[in-house]
Amino acid sequence: MDEFNYYSAILQNNTFSGLFVGQNIVSLRQVDSTNTYLKNLLSKGEPLAEGTVIMAEEQFAGRGQVNNTWVSEPGMNLTFSILLCPSFLLPENQFQLNLAVSLAINDALTPIIGRDLKIKWPNDIYVKNQKLGGVLIENIVQGTSWKYAIVGIGINVNQVNFPAGITNVTSLKKILHQDYDLQNVLKEICDKVSIRYQQLKSDRSSLMAEYVTNLYKLNTPSRFRIGNKEVEGVITGVTEQGFLRLKIADEENTYGFKELSYIIP
Ligand code: BTN
Repeated sequence: MDEFNYYSAILQNNTFSGLFVGQNIVSLRQVDSTNTYLKNLLSKGEPLAEGTVIMAEEQFAGRGQVNNTWVSEPGMNLTFSILLCPSFLLPENQFQLNLAVSLAINDALTPIIGRDLKIKWPNDIYVKNQKLGGVLIENIVQGTSWKYAIVGIGINVNQVNFPAGITNVTSLKKILHQDYDLQNVLKEICDKVSIRYQQLKSDRSSLMAEYVTNLYKLNTPSRFRIGNKEVEGVITGVTEQGFLRLKIADEENTYGFKELSYIIP
């Protein structure tokens, strides 16, 4: 199937199914960052349907959480951004979208990887102690209304060699020793994001319990760095606002994303 027919087939299959994410896909050979590209289109007032996906074969300035870069070998992995308009949520409920997107990736990849796949709070995708993917959500808020969320997703698919400085990293191919079709994996993730986003609109309460069940290191004694101290603690859950619940020597406290880091074994 050529590129045009492939995308129009997706469009026809999904028109009535509610699987709106990825009906409109902009596929780029090379870009700085798909998140930045999408943000620029929006700032120019480009009319874009909710669920539009910008994907790139190569990002030369891919961005990760906390000002990190996201490095991905050209043509080997998925690097894409989804446009969502979560105006039904208040901006202070941002973490709810994190829950939905993390669970969607978990739904899409668990049939491939199995139960070793976990969500490392807040939204990294881990297999055992290695990172398979990550999510960078950037928000555009107008007044009190949450206008756009740019949901950037990077999943390591067929890359097997990673730069020396990048540790604790894996890919589908490294784990399962076979190549995966990027378009198929993309479609699985997009479909699951459509479904979890619908759940976010209609029945938000059940997302949190599912998210917590799938957390990396849940109820398992683990080491963390808090400030300049190393501690052992047990993750017991997450608050509605997205703070991690951690029990250290029988005392439970909550921590924000920048307050704590995992010490990966
Ligand atoms: C992280 O784990 O630090 C988040 C990584 C997010 C990477 C994706 S790749 C597609 C999109 N464009 C970017 O520049 N970043 C996100």
